[in-house]
Amino acid sequence: MDTGRVLGAVDRRIFGGFIEHLGRCIYGGVYEPGSPLSDSRGFREDVLELMKRLRVSVLRWPGGNFVSNYHWRDGVGPAAERLERPELAWGGTEPNTFGTDEYISYCRELGAEPYICLNMGTGSLEEALAWVEYCNSDRQTHWADLRRSNGQEEPFDVPWWGLGNEIYGAWQVGALSAEEYIAEATRWARAIRMLDPHAKLVSCGELGWTDWDVKVIDALAPYVDLHSVHIYTGSDDYWTNVLSPHAAERAIQTASTLLRRSAYKHQLPRAPRLAYDEWNVWFRAMDGGLEERYNFSDALAVGTFLNIFVRNSAWVAIANMAQMVNAIAPIVTSTDAAVAQPIYFPFLLHSRGHLAEAVDTFVEGPRVAAPEEHMSRWRHRIDDLGPFDLVDVAATVDSERANIALTLVNRSEDVERVEVVLKTGMFARRGRLQTVVGSERPSPVPGVQEASTHEGEVEPKDAVVVLDLLPKSFTLFESGITRR
Ligand code: AHR
Ligand code: AHR
Repeated sequence: MDTGRVLGAVDRRIFGGFIEHLGRCIYGGVYEPGSPLSDSRGFREDVLELMKRLRVSVLRWPGGNFVSNYHWRDGVGPAAERLERPELAWGGTEPNTFGTDEYISYCRELGAEPYICLNMGTGSLEEALAWVEYCNSDRQTHWADLRRSNGQEEPFDVPWWGLGNEIYGAWQVGALSAEEYIAEATRWARAIRMLDPHAKLVSCGELGWTDWDVKVIDALAPYVDLHSVHIYTGSDDYWTNVLSPHAAERAIQTASTLLRRSAYKHQLPRAPRLAYDEWNVWFRAMDGGLEERYNFSDALAVGTFLNIFVRNSAWVAIANMAQMVNAIAPIVTSTDAAVAQPIYFPFLLHSRGHLAEAVDTFVEGPRVAAPEEHMSRWRHRIDDLGPFDLVDVAATVDSERANIALTLVNRSEDVERVEVVLKTGMFARRGRLQTVVGSERPSPVPGVQEASTHEGEVEPKDAVVVLDLLPKSFTLFESGITRR
């Protein structure tokens, strides 16, 4: 590997999360007033603890499909006056006891940046402007004053605003055609920027390569900072499951080319970047509260997604794991415990281990061909991609080029011996290894699988270090380097 070949600055926002009013994600997950496990604000402390360890950098909210019929004013003000509403996306009742103020305190508690997705389904531009004013204005005006009267003197300074969620889809309340969306989103973007010139806007993309993406990127690049894309993968077939995240590589390549083209066409100083603002393994729990139970092959897929985001740091500015608690999530609660599913651990090691700049690696070794099975559910094919490295790797260095971190996904059913060779410089100290593998231990929450972490050290020799990776494992390797 060559620590001099920088691929891009790693934006810590790729270690972001997403919480939606869906099943037990917020109510009974993040927020459970009255529970002995909750603090005075109603936040589950055991969940907060697991979230904090992940160092979630940016937290998207309130949806997802939910947002397309969400009216933020129902969720602010005295608890007793908040209105219950039918919830159309997932079919429940929304109590509105968790709203904007609660979300902002949650973000502050986590040290995460807020990222609010706007309702472009049944919401109006007027309502969106009022929300931006409520959150971000320091003027003595109606909606900013409402925030003050709710006890929040200082503006929330919400930097990120999403212009709608999956608004192209028939499952979305108030779905729009690309032409309708472009016309609406252009009006919204101009108006929001008039109110808050610092607002960072995100256009609603699809999968990164669809006709919707082509049209929306072409028209909206002058008005937005980021274009959003979503990806879910998953299969009972092991190889399909662990390799499918590579579909994200095609999406990033295609979308970034479209963004570059549109920026050139519109003579923009810089092309918008990408927000992978929903991504995860999801294919089992398709209804109810989407309470997906993960195994370790899903964790290998999650480690690969994050490796892909690190390698594509030049383009991926934000990524939000969908979601964080109970609904397709790394954290699961019961009334008396919160536990981590296997997919928690690659996120943890990535978020805690990776450094400022992604650098290039060249992998020489066994490869695997793409499996024949297609994931028709989510329209991601990989049969035309590959072959893929058996061990998937991403590498970063700090800005002084004194420390190095590697994340390695060993998809093989055997121990794989990997020789890491520095093209320039030497290793400066012993390397630290943290490896996670699946485990059969019973979890305090029935049905949840455990994972076990192994720690160790390895002695490099000059520019080479040898790692023996456990079968089906995820590893973070950290060491020091010298330039020469
Ligand atoms: O994360 C679950 C759902 O997946 C979200 O609500 C929606 O945006 C996507 O279809
Ligand atoms: O991504 C589209 C998803 O497909 C929706 O969130 C879900 O409701 C549908 O099954």
